[in-house]
Amino acid sequence: MSPSSAHPVPTPVLAIESSCDDTACAIVASDGAILAEAVLSQSGHIPFGGVVPEIAARAHLAALPALVRHTLDRAGLPPSGLGAIAASTGPGLIGGLIVGAGVAKGLAVALDRPFVAVNHIEAHALTARLPGLVPGGAPFPYLLLLVSGGHCQCIAVEGVGRYRKLGGTIDDAAGEAFDKVAKMLGLGWPGGPAVEALAAEGDPAPYPLPRPLFGRPGCDFSFSGLKTAVAQKLAPFAAGALPRSAAAGIAASFQDAVAAIVADRVAHALDMMPQATLLVAAGGVAANTRLRACLTDLAASRGLPFAAPPLRLCTDNAVMVAWAAIETLRERHARGLPPADDLDLLPRPRWPLEQMAERFPMTAPPG
Ligand code: KG4
Ligand code: ZN
Repeated sequence: MSPSSAHPVPTPVLAIESSCDDTACAIVASDGAILAEAVLSQSGHIPFGGVVPEIAARAHLAALPALVRHTLDRAGLPPSGLGAIAASTGPGLIGGLIVGAGVAKGLAVALDRPFVAVNHIEAHALTARLPGLVPGGAPFPYLLLLVSGGHCQCIAVEGVGRYRKLGGTIDDAAGEAFDKVAKMLGLGWPGGPAVEALAAEGDPAPYPLPRPLFGRPGCDFSFSGLKTAVAQKLAPFAAGALPRSAAAGIAASFQDAVAAIVADRVAHALDMMPQATLLVAAGGVAANTRLRACLTDLAASRGLPFAAPPLRLCTDNAVMVAWAAIETLRERHARGLPPADDLDLLPRPRWPLEQMAERFPMTAPPG
């Protein structure tokens, strides 16, 4: 028996995602078929205008047992039909990670199946490879722009376990900037969709805003100066006396600035990664129509396709965690390594992507 056939890839994989404010569970087969998926968005944070870690952890704990049972029911599988269990174990809010990893590890021990610890950012990075998502597939290497409420970075995705962060935010994430500006405009949380809707009726011209780091070398991002500039535009208006046209104009100008900054930073990231064959965007902010248009134009100008997974797979979800686990299991199988068994791996609030190569120790890439 060859070393690789000695350790068949154990699937389907049940995965749990609980690194921020969404509690999610999914079951995915080895060919990427989604057998079941469910996401619960926590509403307890709304009065606070942002995610409260303690509320998030408690809500994950309250939701997960029923969510796991529901996902198994939807897939029509008994627990014994699972091949492996996975969970996001970092980076993220530590309370939620401990809850999700604890439930997943408990299941893995009870069922005597391997437990695969998944890096949440890696899961976003590999989603585009889920069969059927990107026409023609998403072969390595490609550039990933991850823009969400918690993350804002450009990543060279060169292989399973082989990632290089090319640049990231030095202050706020793009989604965080949308959420803070929404709050200043008196809109609800999460703010991105509300700012986008308001911007649609606004004229940005009377409200020019700065574009921090635009044109600078590298592909780092900065949004805090832009946020402060929005506050300054709003300052002349007395509380409760902001005309809708001004609010819409400022929202439109802010959105234009974010889209222009992000497209500029991604253009630099593509310069840093001339071997990229595809540009992929993920994270909640990738839902923004204006940003998508800028990225589509940028990719076209470089002769590259642009892809963004459908919104439900772009934002936090457990399908991406299950798929990253399958890619990891497959890669280990191809290298003749036993399935990952990460029961000893503790959840971690920070987990640099560059450390993921350690999962494939002392082996040459397959082929
Ligand atoms: O990926 P996600 O669901 O959760 C994490 O942050 O991990 O992203 C949520 C973020 C929020 O900041 C939200 O305001 C932003 O994505 N967002 C948008 C839009 N839809 C969601 N930002 C701009 N335009 C949108 N249409
Ligand atoms: Zn995420």
